[in-house]
Amino acid sequence: MSGFFITFEGPEGSGKTTQIPFLAEALRQAGYQVLTTREPGGTPIGDQIRSVLSDIKNTAMHPRTEILLFLASRAQLVSEVIRPHLESGGVVLCDRYADSTLAYQGYGHGMILDELQNLLLFATEGLTPDLTFLLDLDVEIGLQRRANGGDWNRLDAYELAFHRRVRAGYHQLVKKEPERWVVVDAAQSPRQIQAQLQAITFQRLQALEGIA
Ligand code: TYD
Repeated sequence: MSGFFITFEGPEGSGKTTQIPFLAEALRQAGYQVLTTREPGGTPIGDQIRSVLSDIKNTAMHPRTEILLFLASRAQLVSEVIRPHLESGGVVLCDRYADSTLAYQGYGHGMILDELQNLLLFATEGLTPDLTFLLDLDVEIGLQRRANGGDWNRLDAYELAFHRRVRAGYHQLVKKEPERWVVVDAAQSPRQIQAQLQAITFQRLQALEGIA
C-alpha cells in the first residue's frame, strides 16, 4: 500500500489532541506503521516557530507574518516528516494541516482564499490529505473547555465572532470537497468519537487495500 494521510481539524477544545493517540494505537495494533504529528510544530524547527506563534507577548504580529510562520512550519513538517513516512507506506495522523490556514486565516481573518491556496501549494508541494476529520463543536463549548484546561494562549484570545467564522469556514471547506471530509460531532462522549474515527479509518484503509 502507498501511504495514507489523515488530518484532524476543528475548533479549539474539540478534542483532536485527545483522540489522535487512541486512533494511532488502534492502527498500530492492526499492523500499520503510524506516525502522529501536529501543527504548528512537529519538527525541531517547527517547534521553534510554534513558540513564536503562541507567545502572548507577540501582540504586534501582522496577519501575513502569522501565515508565513504557519506555512514555514508546515513546509518543514511535510518535507522532513510527513512525506518520507508516506513514501515508506505508513499512515500519518496530523493534528491540523492546510485546512486550518484556510479556516483561521482565510475565513477567520478574511485573507483572500485564492492567495492562501497558492501559498499552501508552495509550502506543501501539493500534498493533500486522503481523509480529513472535522471534529465539529459549538464555539462557546470549545472555548470553555479550553479555558478550563488552563491552556489559554495568544491564538485563543481572539473574539468569539472570529471562532464562529472559523467554524462556518470549515463547513464551507467540507462542502467543496465532501469526499475528503468526514464531520464528527465532537459534543459526543470521547468513547463515541473514538469509535467513529476508528470505524471510518479502517473502512477507508480496507477500501484502499481492496478488502472491502
Ligand atoms: P494549539 O494550541 O495547537 O491548538 P489546538 O489544540 O486547538 O490545535 O494551537 C494552534 C492554534 O493555531 C489554533 O488556534 C489554530 C491556529 N492555527 C491557525 O490559525 N492556522 C494554521 O494554519 C494552523 C496550523 C493553526
